[in-house]
Amino acid sequence: MPGPDVVIPLKSLKAPRDTLARPMRDLRISVMDRCNFRCPYCMPRETYHDKYQFLRTAERLSFDEIVRLARLFAPLGVRKLRLTGGEPLLRANLPDLICDLTSVPGIEDVALTTNGVLLAQHAAELKAAGLKRITVSLDSTDPAVFSKMSGGLGAIEDVLDGIEHARRAGLDPIKINTVVQRGINDHTVLDLVERFRGTGVIVRFIEYMDVGNRNHWQPELVVPSKELAARINERWPLEPLERNYRGEVAERYGFKDGQGEIGFISSVTQPFCGDCSRARLSSDGVFYTCLFATHGTSLRDVMRSGASDEELTELIRNVWLNRADRYSELRAELRRSAGNQPKVEMYYIGG
Ligand code: GTP
Ligand code: 5AD
Ligand code: SF4
Ligand code: SF4
Repeated sequence: MPGPDVVIPLKSLKAPRDTLARPMRDLRISVMDRCNFRCPYCMPRETYHDKYQFLRTAERLSFDEIVRLARLFAPLGVRKLRLTGGEPLLRANLPDLICDLTSVPGIEDVALTTNGVLLAQHAAELKAAGLKRITVSLDSTDPAVFSKMSGGLGAIEDVLDGIEHARRAGLDPIKINTVVQRGINDHTVLDLVERFRGTGVIVRFIEYMDVGNRNHWQPELVVPSKELAARINERWPLEPLERNYRGEVAERYGFKDGQGEIGFISSVTQPFCGDCSRARLSSDGVFYTCLFATHGTSLRDVMRSGASDEELTELIRNVWLNRADRYSELRAELRRSAGNQPKVEMYYIGG
């Protein structure tokens, strides 16, 4: 027991750690469940057809609700916010939200993940609203492969143009997320690296994951990062770089000739649950503690039924205190035992 003159900082009382002692540092907020792409590994066309019922506007969190939640998450340890979708740039007036989120006390970093098609149009206003950096999803620079991986929607030229506008607007760093699938786009990886080497843009390759239930994931489609790194290293020798921060998902490598860096996100072959401090909020306000969650807690419903800030804080805190997720580490076992429990979908929860 601390003596009467020992002051326990309020922060340490309030910031929860989960059952594996992991803090909550990063909140990923999906602001829009719709997308203008139909990447087969995320929103296969056969499911997400013209008549698919997405959320109604009133079902999505309003900007005021998102900002209120961000203000409550920050004292619980969250320092970084990432806006995702679906496609976040389909949400009208997104810069207004960014402006409000960058001024939430305690928030040090606000980032955005987009497919880039609408970026040329929005880059300057995003920057003006206070966004500093951006991540663009781009699976191939080969037009035919790009088209296959985006479900035939969007044009590679628009994405490249979007990246160029982001650069001119001063968004920095610009990162690219590339999902790699064997036999589908892995033969175009070297071209993608070549396209961005020396430009300052950081390409990161993501192992194809079994997120959700609808993408027909098979282990054979995963290209292990080690294999990919070896292929790239043969052409442009690489050297490992230190992680930027604890819990960073990407393993970084620099080109030995000084032409920049690339990264590998290897959630299948080298799971990183041990340091996972990421919380997620769906566009309708459900709080999830894992990308592969089977259920979450609706903060929207609690908020809309009149809960106070204190009540919401207590709820969020308790969900985190009880968190035990480590799906990627237990993948094989969980895929066998929890096969019929539907997982949350990526477009809905955000990457
Ligand atoms: P930085 O802040 O730039 O370091 O990036 P980040 O850690 O926020 O990474 P980003 O959001 O760009 O994530 C890249 C991709 O990694 C996501 O789109 C997912 O595919 C994958 N990823 C991110 N977080 C997790 C996670 O918690 N678990 C798993 N399994 N994959 C993740
Ligand atoms: N496996 C790996 N990455 C995925 N993404 C979407 N679905 C998957 C999947 N099944 C990536 C997108 C985007 C980010 C939000 O998540 O390509 O870069
Ligand atoms: Fe849209 Fe991104 Fe999903 Fe592709 S991966 S369908 S761009 S949300
Ligand atoms: Fe975190 Fe779940 Fe991903 Fe593991 S699988 S790193 S617990 S989100």
